[in-house]
Amino acid sequence: MKIKWGVIGCGGIADRRTLPGMMLADNAELVAVMDANLEVANKVKDKYNAKYAFAKFEDVLALDEIQAVYIASPVFCHKEQAMAAAKAKKHILLEKPMALTSEESQEIADCCKAEGVKLGVGLMMRFHGYHQEMKKLVAAGKLGDVVSMRAQLTCWYPDIPNNWRQNKDLSGGGALMDMGIHCIDLLQYITGLKAEEVTGFAQTQTFSYNADDSAAIVMKMNNGALAMVDANFNIPDAAAKCKLEIYGTKGSIMAEGTISQIEAGEVSVLISDDSLGYDASQNRDELTPVKLDVELGNMYTKEVTSFGNAIANDTEPEITAEDAILVQRICEAAYKSSDSKVISKL
Ligand SMILES: NC(=O)c1ccc[n+]([C@@H]2O[C@H](COP(=O)([O-])OP(=O)(O)OC[C@H]3O[C@@H](n4cnc5c(N)ncnc54)[C@H](O)[C@@H]3O)[C@@H](O)[C@H]2O)c1
Repeated sequence: MKIKWGVIGCGGIADRRTLPGMMLADNAELVAVMDANLEVANKVKDKYNAKYAFAKFEDVLALDEIQAVYIASPVFCHKEQAMAAAKAKKHILLEKPMALTSEESQEIADCCKAEGVKLGVGLMMRFHGYHQEMKKLVAAGKLGDVVSMRAQLTCWYPDIPNNWRQNKDLSGGGALMDMGIHCIDLLQYITGLKAEEVTGFAQTQTFSYNADDSAAIVMKMNNGALAMVDANFNIPDAAAKCKLEIYGTKGSIMAEGTISQIEAGEVSVLISDDSLGYDASQNRDELTPVKLDVELGNMYTKEVTSFGNAIANDTEPEITAEDAILVQRICEAAYKSSDSKVISKL
């Protein structure tokens, strides 16, 4: 069974990544695209061979043949569009962050529940083959007890006039809310741990917009491990490797380039022999890193396929609103900590 999709806000990430991914999904058929800019919608319609292009989201929702919508409009539009879609009985794959605040995100989730439609969230980096393999290694106890971790995502995002993402009233937050959100989600997903306390700094250091262009946070997880996330809009894309590192009492996993929109990168696993005692010489060359080698694909294809399967099989979406709201609350707690200079409890 193919799920018939409509796309709301089709000119940004939808055109760059999600629609190319959707074209490769066996269970998806694109029917309609919508963008506030009709010229953009028409171009995207022709590019992906959709049936309809609209400038109003209500026109997508009025189509009986559509079962699901993918909402990839600017964050300040999400709540109105998602609530209307739920009321029109469309299942919703909603981009991150779900809305401007975690309270609004919860309202969307409650509305979807009341209307009996499924709600999934675009934290697609969970579908990366390496991230799933890392999760398996941690769950199998290969690292021992997880004690420390770090995830980084950066890009170069200079001042752009009237840019919604650079205005925190329209985006809900800058580098941390936009990109750090993936890092926090991955650390929790891969380790199965949850943040309980958070502290950090979020600031605008380089540019003149009011959203943060740099943030660094530390979370205390529910097993006591400490987790660091750094998110920057002010580091050139090519200058950072977007590192993801998990350390445990028996070893570590170190990834480079996996926190990305492309399913790629490199992962080394270092696991120490259980018999090793304390090494006073601190010799770091005794272990040979093992490179992870798993089949990689397209995270957006997997995201669309997975949400379509949840509709077809009437199961819970793999990436739930509950998970996404928790991650959003962590970002909000980090902003609060940065403003108040106190540790925020979740
Ligand atoms: N998961 C990911 O890989 C990923 C990557 C980038 C962005 N995103 C998320 O996707 C969403 C969109 O981000 P983007 O980078 O594509 O933004 P963007 O500004 O590049 O594109 C947004 C598109 O929405 C259109 N638009 C503006 N107002 C609209 C409205 N009222 N209704 C419908 N469309 C409207 C714009 O014309 C534009 O084509 C955000 O939530 C963002 O966080 C996710």
